[in-house]
Order: sequence, then structure tokens, then C-alpha cells
Amino acid sequence: MEDYYLGWLEQVEKALSIWGCCRVDIEPRLIVITGMGGSGCIGDYVYALASTRKYFKCPIFIVKSHKLPSFINEKDLVFIISYSGNTLETRHTYLEALRRKCSLVVITSNGFLERDAKQKNIPLITVTRGIAPRTALPEMLLAVLNILDTSGLTIVSRDEVEDLRRFLKENMAKAYNEAMEIAQFIYSNKGTLIIATHTPLEALAIRGKNEFNENSKIPVKIDVAPECAHNDIVGWENPFTDKWTVLEIVDPRDSIGLKIIDFMDKIYREKRYPIKKILLKGEYFLQKLLYGSLLLGLASVKLARLRGINPLETKNISKYKSRVHDILGQP
Ligand code: F6R
Repeated sequence: MEDYYLGWLEQVEKALSIWGCCRVDIEPRLIVITGMGGSGCIGDYVYALASTRKYFKCPIFIVKSHKLPSFINEKDLVFIISYSGNTLETRHTYLEALRRKCSLVVITSNGFLERDAKQKNIPLITVTRGIAPRTALPEMLLAVLNILDTSGLTIVSRDEVEDLRRFLKENMAKAYNEAMEIAQFIYSNKGTLIIATHTPLEALAIRGKNEFNENSKIPVKIDVAPECAHNDIVGWENPFTDKWTVLEIVDPRDSIGLKIIDFMDKIYREKRYPIKKILLKGEYFLQKLLYGSLLLGLASVKLARLRGINPLETKNISKYKSRVHDILGQP
């Protein structure tokens, strides 16, 4: 499992090698990104990247559901992302988007979606097979950014991905060591984990939560400032238990983010919760997002190892997937 994360540099290199392979001809009203779990977080990342780019004007809408909102139509560009290609919720949105004649792009490694997209001649990027979906984050994310850039809807350029490659190469060992410290910190304190961060790092908080859920098999709470200052902080006045452990994730170049996390820090400190602060490395937002993701991925795997748990296996997801046809019905 560790190797899948340490293979992120190769994933970036692979994505660079196919840059420009696939384009769409549409000036979309909306860019819609659908997917679940590890594939679903790609939408969050693209949204975060797009919303921090002054020049990018097309709204991004994320769907993590079997239901495609009624306002999505043929004027929209819809990315269908499922690593396995078989996730039922995503198959539902895919078939519904086809019915509504949306412009479609499929990102997958295999399964129904790969077969069907090939058959129908739908733009498709096939990513590396046989790894855990959640660990294919760079390849799936860069596949979306590749198609957007090639189609004149640039959020991230090829040059920036080159910079990312250099950055990851230089920082892989540092990320590994920092991740081991984070895992030790969480393991030694054993409180329920709180991931506290500030906007625009929501995507990273959700991703981190999912990684500790799936790899370490623990529940996680997220506090994202400034929104958490309007609700969660009241919850911290009188929780049922005081057994919590805090991971604060901060962009050190974001002066407001720093101040707002300092405010949260005082609240956790008053409660005497153990706190570890992570300052994200990286020059650009894409680098910070990927560095943070690598850190949390590796830390969650290490935490599983410390607990004697298999990080790869996700029994309850398999159980859900074996029943989901009965719950949702055929697409
Ligand atoms: C497993 C994982 C899950 C899956 C999710 C959807 O590694 O990350 O969250 O991503 O169950 O499956 P796919 O990605 O195959 O559509």
C-alpha cells in the first residue's frame, strides 16, 4: 500500500506523457464532475484549483450521488469518474447524463464505464489498473486537468504539472518522514481525530478524513474555518467526551488562514486536546494540495500498520457494494 503512494511521481510522469491526448469541443455552461469516494474527491480538487484561479470563469459543480441535479443539461460538460468503472452511483449519473445529451468525458481504469465509453466513442482516459482507487488521485486528477487544458479550458497548465513533478521528486522523502511523525502522534494520543484547516483547503480536509476512514479504519471529524467558527466551535463548548486529537493543516503563505487557525488553536488548547500543526510545503496551490494528500495518505497507512490493521482492505465498502443494487436499483 505504501508503494502506491510512493508511486505518485510515476503517476504524474504518466499523466505528463499523455498530455494533449484528448479534447472536447464545447464552451460549457457548467463543468460537472461526478464520482464517489476516492474518485469523488477529484471534483473537490478541481473545484478548489479552479476557484483560486482569477482567470477561470466556468462554474464547477460536483455530484457525489446517484442523482444528477435536474438543471444539468446538454450545455454542460460532465466528467464521469470511477476508478473501477463499476460504481453504481456513478453508472446512474453516467446514463442519466447520456440521456440528457450532455458532453461527456470518462476517467476510469476498467469495468463497465471503460467498455461503454469505448463502444459509444466517448472521450476516455484510462488510468493505471490494479491499485486502490484512492491511491490513483494524481492520475485521475491530472486526467481531468489535461482534458480541460487541451480543450482551451485551462485550470492548470502542462508547465505547472512539470513543476509538480520536480516538486514531488524533491519532497517525497520529506513527506514520508513527516507522515511517520503524524501517524505516531495520532497513535500515541488515541483520541478521535479532528482535521482542522482553513478555506480553500476544504478538499484536503475531506480527502484526509476519507484516508483515515479507509486506511486506518477510524471516524474523523473535520473543522474548516471560517465556516466552523459559525457552528463547530459551539460544539466544542460541551462535547460528550474530551478524548480528541487535533491535526491542524495550514497554508503558511495564507495570512488569514494562519490567523483563523490560531483562533481555533486556542479553543482546542483550552480543552487540552493534543495538537499537531502541519505547514503545507509547496510554492503553488496544486503542489500544496498534493503534498498534503501524500502526507495524509502515508500517515493513514502508517497508523493502520501501528494498529495491526490492513490499510488496503475496505470490508464495509465491499459489503455496501454487494447490496447497493438492491438499494438503488438498476441504472
Ligand atoms: C477505495 C476507495 C473508495 C472508492 C469508492 C468508489 O480505494 O477509495 O472510496 O473510490 O468506493 O469506487 P470507484 O472509485 O471505483 O468508483
